[in-house]
Amino acid sequence: MSANALELRGVTSGYKASVVLRGLSMSVAAGEAVALLGKNGMGKTTLLKTIMGYLPKQGGSIHVNGLDVTRLPPHRIARAGIAYAPQEHALFQDLSIRDNLRLGLPDVSVFDERFADLEPLFPVFKSRLKQHAGTLSGGEQKMLLVARALMTRPSMMLLDEITEGLQPSVIDRVAEALLWERRRHGTTVLLIEQHVPFALRVADRYAILKQGEIIDHGDAKDAAAAASIFDHLRV
Ligand SMILES: Nc1ncnc2c1ncn2[C@@H]1O[C@H](COP(=O)(O)OP(=O)(O)O)[C@@H](O)[C@H]1O
Ligand SMILES: [Mg+2]
Repeated sequence: MSANALELRGVTSGYKASVVLRGLSMSVAAGEAVALLGKNGMGKTTLLKTIMGYLPKQGGSIHVNGLDVTRLPPHRIARAGIAYAPQEHALFQDLSIRDNLRLGLPDVSVFDERFADLEPLFPVFKSRLKQHAGTLSGGEQKMLLVARALMTRPSMMLLDEITEGLQPSVIDRVAEALLWERRRHGTTVLLIEQHVPFALRVADRYAILKQGEIIDHGDAKDAAAAASIFDHLRV
């Protein structure tokens, strides 16, 4: 048992041919937002896939709100209150915006109320609910991914490079949406980012992942945070 929303202890994971995470331990307190940064190929996506149960753990344990999810399959882990926005596009292009937003809901009767609640954050979807998701621009599809995650009222969100390829104005909107969600629902957030200013704006804490291990962490609101992160990300 632990009071943390997310707790990883000595997690080892990877792919058949290679171990990527090596005894990784980290925790995210309930209501806290942590940004995980690191160069390409350091294991960030592998970490989220491991938490969600898409990759088998070769060692260690993962607890979500005190529940041991180490051996649970992905749909059971999602049911523990985690919404996951993967790095690769995960929308159903041939389904309507409405159907994409409904997919994660255990009960579609809550759709109208949930959507009304989110609609001010995503005005672009209001008049277009019947349109196929595939007709949206890349930036709008990312917004839809965030909106779909929020529709489930998750207690925790895992976001994998959600700002990738977005225009600055859209990045701003996504940051606003996440900050609004955190204020209203105290949602716990673990976000993976390349965009340092966005990460520091949304997060309370940052951690640097290098070759499957956390090599540094600190307070996101610390004046020296950005400089210290750029130092780690420099090639
Ligand atoms: N499906 C896969 N099969 C084998 N190796 C993989 C697979 N996906 C990623 N990797 C390897 O795992 C390491 C970590 O990748 P990843 O977690 O995607 O890094 P990041 O998200 O930090 O860029 C890399 O060396 C990558 O080549
Ligand atoms: Mg990645």
